[in-house]
Amino acid sequence: MDLQALLGKMTLEQKLAQMSQFNAVFLFRDAGGEITGPAKALALTEDELNATGSVLNFIGAKRMKEIQDRHMQDDPNKIPLLFMQDVIHGYRTIYPVPLGMGATWEPALMEECCKMAAKEAAVAGVQVTFAPMVDLVRDCRWGRVMESTGEDPYLNCLFSKAQVRGFQGDMTGKYDIAACVKHFAAYGAAEGGRDYNTVDMSERSLRQDYLPAYKAAVDEGVEMLMTSFNLINGVPSSGNKWLVDTVLRKEWGFDKVVISDYDAFREMKKHGYCENDYECAYAALEAGTDIEMMSNCYVKNVKQLIDEGKISMAQVDKAVMRILELKDKMGLFENPYGAASEEEEIKFNLCPEHRALAKKAVLKSAVLLKNDGVLPLSDNIAKVAVVGPFADKGMIGAWSCGGKEEEAVSVADGIGALIGKTKVKVVLGCEGTAKEKPDAKEIAKAVRLVKNSDYVVLCLGEKREYSGEGNSRADVTLSEAQKTLARSVVEANPNAVAVLFNGRPLALSDIIDDLPAVMTVWQPGTEGGSAVADLLFGKENFEGRLPMSFPREVGQAPLYYNRMRTGRPPRDPNDNSRGYESRYLDCLNTPLFPFGYGLSYTTFEITPPMLDKTEMNRGEEIKVSVKVKNTGSVAGSTVVQMYLCDRFASLVRPMQELKGFEKVWLLPGEEKDVTFIITEETLKFYSANGKFEAESGEFNLWVSDSAEKGESVTFKLN
Ligand code: BGC
Repeated sequence: MDLQALLGKMTLEQKLAQMSQFNAVFLFRDAGGEITGPAKALALTEDELNATGSVLNFIGAKRMKEIQDRHMQDDPNKIPLLFMQDVIHGYRTIYPVPLGMGATWEPALMEECCKMAAKEAAVAGVQVTFAPMVDLVRDCRWGRVMESTGEDPYLNCLFSKAQVRGFQGDMTGKYDIAACVKHFAAYGAAEGGRDYNTVDMSERSLRQDYLPAYKAAVDEGVEMLMTSFNLINGVPSSGNKWLVDTVLRKEWGFDKVVISDYDAFREMKKHGYCENDYECAYAALEAGTDIEMMSNCYVKNVKQLIDEGKISMAQVDKAVMRILELKDKMGLFENPYGAASEEEEIKFNLCPEHRALAKKAVLKSAVLLKNDGVLPLSDNIAKVAVVGPFADKGMIGAWSCGGKEEEAVSVADGIGALIGKTKVKVVLGCEGTAKEKPDAKEIAKAVRLVKNSDYVVLCLGEKREYSGEGNSRADVTLSEAQKTLARSVVEANPNAVAVLFNGRPLALSDIIDDLPAVMTVWQPGTEGGSAVADLLFGKENFEGRLPMSFPREVGQAPLYYNRMRTGRPPRDPNDNSRGYESRYLDCLNTPLFPFGYGLSYTTFEITPPMLDKTEMNRGEEIKVSVKVKNTGSVAGSTVVQMYLCDRFASLVRPMQELKGFEKVWLLPGEEKDVTFIITEETLKFYSANGKFEAESGEFNLWVSDSAEKGESVTFKLN
């Protein structure tokens, strides 16, 4: 396609329509032929709607083709629409939420899952997914924690790249879809963990911790990027010229499509940054945002901005060209339907291969937090009581696109399929709402059931609508109803294990001692229950390790392992009784469960790290070796994690930073050598000079199976 020639014949109005994205419903003029509802409220004309460049939120190949047909009939230049959708953790076959995928510590598995999601999405007509979401998050109150892969920049970068590769392939495969990394930038650092809230942070911290995962996606060739809702240091991202133009475009060389978040242009008025839509359009275009999602500031104001000489036609052309280039790259001018196919939807959606992969992902993402010995359960038993609000539902998490609860395997179903349906009985005991009070009658029912059962599987946690967009929580504990239910049931039958369904780290200190065994399976998706059953009965071993610290109390938030040191650290991390130390009077500083933590049905020993030398010059490397041994009686895997601390630097460095890890699978008694290589690159950070460089001096190093554990050794960079 000769894109220059095409651009040459487009009117300004047609160009601006390419730079707008609306809900697919708008193109149907809602139900009839009239412009009604939200489209009317935006005062969009027939011409503006006919020339629209892209849409979001539609379901299925049939609908997609109808919309594309209708559009192609009306569009004056016959430029196909681009269809975008939030495919976050599966399209129809749903795998665990990204936080759960983070717990796998297996970027390659994430890649495989994204490839599967892309396939189901592509045949449903999706051409771009609004993923990966790579916002670094340290605050468990934030609802969108579930969409991230956790609190660590290093791990997030690996998952960011893996998702881009999984969705996009090389962008030539039949089912490859374009990825759109979001939300640029630092959306996860909202003050108080409250969604959409202000972000105020130093450029050092932004560059050091928050920007790398977006940059990783850019380096991996991501086709689009979405700006965030939040202010960064007083400027909303949608109109943030420093962020989009200086950092993204100029420093990182990203010359592809940038889209705003949903109605975020007009929100610049509410932020107090722009007085009217005209100013919103100006700020956003100046920053370098190409597509405006769900508002009409460009369509209605850019002509005036050009007439007044504030914006040039070249700026508009540049934005339109990026959009046309993406459409061309995706082959839409030749085939506006892309891979959309009703037959293939039937063939791929929930096919056995996809269900098997979704199950594998749950098995690897589940984290065993505590086990007093009740696990694994024996399948040579008569009765299992499945109790709690998530006993027979609640597998599918937030942002699950075409995923349906009724297509998911519940815990009761999963256990039933494994040991026989008749052996499984369910009592919910409560509803699972946040402020729910205990219901004595329901609890008595549960107690009666468990007294008559061999084992109790307590399915507790938070509902899917308690996390996700706009769903921040000031209290991240289990409700009184759930805690009372759990205590009563365990008292009646201590052969009990709690399975937690949660979109964020929960504060469990007031219940953990009452529960004999606890695992989290996050929001596990379509195959949640079947994987939980295999884990409970020891058919599979636990592999998950926490990608985010679990606090003792919500008041510790933000809580993250790679924090800075203070001048008055507690002399003993397990003692908060001493005054004039950086402490809480009523809680230890440490997490209940640290980053990187997770138990298994076997045990491992990791030897102290051996260094091949303790000093290195620039350009040299140090080899770190440990031996890891399976000291238990079943096969299993552990994640060997290497952490570093730059002891003294021109700008203080965190107490620990993950710099490498390896997941190792070992048979009972088996031993393996694990090595990590440290180079100058490993030691670089944004120094007081504003440079990304390694400073000479001493470094502490740990190799362990979680943060906050292990003996350190020291080496030196000359
Ligand atoms: C969310 C984005 C999402 C977009 C489109 C917004 O509200 O913040 O993450 O991609 O909606 O659905």
